Amino acid sequence: MQPLLIPTPATWLPTALADVPAVLIDHAHCEKKAAAHAMGLVSQYGDYTALVLPLVALAQEELRHFRQVVKIMQARGLTLSQDAGDPYVQRLMREARHGRAQRLVDRLLIASLVEARSAERLGLLGDGLAAANDPADAALAPFYQRLAKTEAGHHRLFVRLARRIEPAAAVVLRLSALAEVEAEAMVAQPPEARIH
Ligand SMILES: [Fe+2]
Ligand SMILES: [Fe+2]
Repeated sequence: MQPLLIPTPATWLPTALADVPAVLIDHAHCEKKAAAHAMGLVSQYGDYTALVLPLVALAQEELRHFRQVVKIMQARGLTLSQDAGDPYVQRLMREARHGRAQRLVDRLLIASLVEARSAERLGLLGDGLAAANDPADAALAPFYQRLAKTEAGHHRLFVRLARRIEPAAAVVLRLSALAEVEAEAMVAQPPEARIH
C-alpha cells in the first residue's frame, strides 16, 4: 500500500545533494530518534505483549543504522551536532488521540508514515548520489538505496502492529486521515538539506 498522498517536491533533492554533510548529520539524528521511539513504546506499552519483541528488534535495527551513519560521518570529520528537533514529526504527533490504546495506534501509524516518507527520500537520495560528481558522495548511493528498502519495510511493520490493536478497517481509516496531515506537514516544510 502506498500511504503517501503526495510526493516530495522536486526542489528537495537538489537542496539535499548540495549539502551532503548536513543531510548525514540530520539522518543520524533520525536513526537515533527512531531507535529511541521504538524503545519508548516498549517502556510505555510493555503490557501489549505482541508489540514488544518486534519493537525491540526494530530499535536494534535503527541503532545499527545510527551507528553506520555516525561511522560515515566520522570518516568525513563530521560531528554529531545538537539535535535541532523535527517540526514535521512534532506536527504529526499533535494529531495523536488521547485514550491509551488510541494514542498507541496513532503513534504506530504516525511512525509508519514517517518511515514511508523517509523511505521515499532515502531512495531519492540514493539515486541522486549515484549520479554525484564527488566520488565520496557517489560511494554512499548503495547505502541509501539499501536503507530506502529497509525503511519501507518499517512502514509496513508499524501498520501490522497497529492492526494487532485495532480492527484492520479502523486502521485503514485512521491511516488515511493521518496521511492527509502528513502531506500538509511535509509541504509546510521548506526544502532543506535534511531528511524531513
Ligand atoms: Fe533506520
Ligand atoms: Fe526505520
